[in-house]
Amino acid sequence: MNKFHQDIIQGIPNELPPIKEFDTKINHAPKRKDILDSDEKKLAIRNALRYFDVKFHPVLSKEFAQELKDYGRIYMYRFRPDYEIYAHPIHEYPGKCDQAKAIMHMIQNNLSYAVAQHPHELITYGGNGAVFQNWAQYLMVMKFLSEMTDEQTLVVYSGHPMGLFPSHKNAPRVVVTNGMMIPNYSKQDDWEKYNALGVTQYGQMTAGSYMYIGPQGIVHGTTITVLNAGRMIAKQGEDLAGKLFLTSGLGGMSGAQPKAGNIAGCITVCAEVNPKVVQTRHSQKWVDEVIDDLDDLVSRVQLAKKNKEVLSVAYLGNIVDVWEKFDSDDIFVDLGSDQTSLHNPWAGGYYPAGIDFEEANELMANKPDLFKDKVQESLRRQADAINKHTEKGTYFFDYGNAFLLEASRAGADIYLDSPTFQNRKNTPKSRGAVGVKEFAYASYVEDIMGPMCFDYGFGPFRWVCTSADPNDLKKTDSIAIQVLEELKKESPKEIQQQMSDNIQWIQGAQENKLVVGSQARILYADAVGRIKIAEAFNQAIKKKEISAPIVLGRDHHDVSGTDSPYRETSNIYDGSQFTSDMAIQNVIGDSFRGATWVSIHNGGGVGWGEVINGGFGMVLDGTEEASKRLRSMLFWDVNNGISRRNWARNKGAMFTAKRAMEMEPNLKITIPNIVDNDLLEKLF
Ligand SMILES: NC(=O)c1ccc[n+]([C@@H]2O[C@H](COP(=O)([O-])OP(=O)(O)OC[C@H]3O[C@@H](n4cnc5c(N)ncnc54)[C@H](O)[C@@H]3O)[C@@H](O)[C@H]2O)c1
Repeated sequence: MNKFHQDIIQGIPNELPPIKEFDTKINHAPKRKDILDSDEKKLAIRNALRYFDVKFHPVLSKEFAQELKDYGRIYMYRFRPDYEIYAHPIHEYPGKCDQAKAIMHMIQNNLSYAVAQHPHELITYGGNGAVFQNWAQYLMVMKFLSEMTDEQTLVVYSGHPMGLFPSHKNAPRVVVTNGMMIPNYSKQDDWEKYNALGVTQYGQMTAGSYMYIGPQGIVHGTTITVLNAGRMIAKQGEDLAGKLFLTSGLGGMSGAQPKAGNIAGCITVCAEVNPKVVQTRHSQKWVDEVIDDLDDLVSRVQLAKKNKEVLSVAYLGNIVDVWEKFDSDDIFVDLGSDQTSLHNPWAGGYYPAGIDFEEANELMANKPDLFKDKVQESLRRQADAINKHTEKGTYFFDYGNAFLLEASRAGADIYLDSPTFQNRKNTPKSRGAVGVKEFAYASYVEDIMGPMCFDYGFGPFRWVCTSADPNDLKKTDSIAIQVLEELKKESPKEIQQQMSDNIQWIQGAQENKLVVGSQARILYADAVGRIKIAEAFNQAIKKKEISAPIVLGRDHHDVSGTDSPYRETSNIYDGSQFTSDMAIQNVIGDSFRGATWVSIHNGGGVGWGEVINGGFGMVLDGTEEASKRLRSMLFWDVNNGISRRNWARNKGAMFTAKRAMEMEPNLKITIPNIVDNDLLEKLF
């Protein structure tokens, strides 16, 4: 048995491994808020020590107390394995079933240096999107996976493996819940407290479900968003050449923006305060140039506009300064957005203007109230500057990062009924939301992703070749192109544009060198597309044209997976945007229709307490069982959301629901009756 196998199979080691030095070359999570009182701190340490033999308690109790003091959390750094963590080819993992080995492949990808934002704190993206809370949980989960058979299911509560339970071949191998709270205990500070106690975690969308595939996962969606935002503002026959897209963030997801801007053909300026993050994205060639001086930035943008260059620039500094500078220097911004991590505003997601990066980190940990004031002041400034630009004609959209939500909480001037918007020539249109105060700006889901993609069933379908072989990925790309081209011929006119965009994306995928970490691909597709592509992969595995199993999955940010009133379900206007039945039904339904693992999370994307989001992973191994599972589960996974969006009277979804019923006689969706507005007007 090789050392890698031995290390995985032993789980928590029998002897204490040597202390690990804190590696300053790695991007670490910011120090978390010191929120526990002394009794709670003792409880946090008592909780952490549960994982270890009592003989280690005298040493570890002191060490964990120190970690809690220094970092605000107990990560158990000493237990971080010595082997390099990355997505190994599936046959290199120890184990009794391929499904479990495929899950190990996915977990290790989510924690690899190439992919994870703070790998030593087990954070994949979004500042606090955790795979596990500590290294003991990682070691135990890997051990359980290496032991399990396909007659068992591993139960994971917020990173903690509760154990292996008897089940059956068609049951999920792993069921994950992350951050499931009693609703009244789901505020930001509840996360701080219960995460510090070691009893819950924030799994983001795809970190805690092992489905993150690096920034590629989001490039496709971002490209679709930028392209369609461009189409919305374009005069006849115009494209995005020479137009400016201003935004922020080069992190886990936001890092996709410059690449997407390049693919869409515009000039992208993306502000980022963290120098390590800028350097990573630049070295990965995800952004073309780096500029750290505002005057230089203005000159460079002017030149690029003049020459209609396709260009992406990282501005090393605060986004607020760029909005203000471009306003004072009269640089016209065509498209504007923001991708700071405002789902996590007080713990490193948003850096306030006016103070430098180091100072902000210091303030965050030591003077959290003052830090909060600075963040809110900065958000008000940012909104004021954006308002000046939109008055000149900029199209600004919220990127689902809770920018408008947090700005409104900070008292920023962003409500539609404010005189700022009502007294201008280009007053934004109301989108007809009832029961909530409307923002002056739409979210990208309200204007773009919802009506153009989700309501028709198009969402971020993805797959990972567990062989880790780029040739397998190439093969899957060409299979997907063939399937989509065939499907496009019979597609109705309502989805022709989406089909063309997706074919163009997959045709360019190899050339755009999108892979970071595992051999993965994202491709927006509807229910029919997903099923046909998956079926073709399964056949190719059976015929050994693809050398190892494929993992199917998706982002939770999809048609059905997520209930999030300010994002995925922001284009639902029947009041049900504040319910979470769809996400819960989705995971329950996936789990008995053949998913290999399912997960349900609190807070992914927009913050703790603001959303419920769920997802799945499914292993295709070329068998007839896999073929049955994929047809049953993928059909439900999309059409659950279609039926709900249809019930909310969304036109595209009503169209898609009727189409789905024509294809599947066993499907009977409840279709809403539409009321004549005049009838209601007369009532009140
Ligand atoms: N890309 C998408 O399609 C998409 C979709 C929905 C939501 N989101 C949201 O976008 C946000 C960003 O996600 P992420 O994974 O990139 O998070 P991240 O934390 O990895 O990256 C955010 C980056 O913003 C930088 N930043 C913070 N404040 C700044 C400021 N004032 N000026 C300049 N830079 C600043 C941070 O240093 C960080 O690197 C999240 O809230 C996420 O939920 C993205």
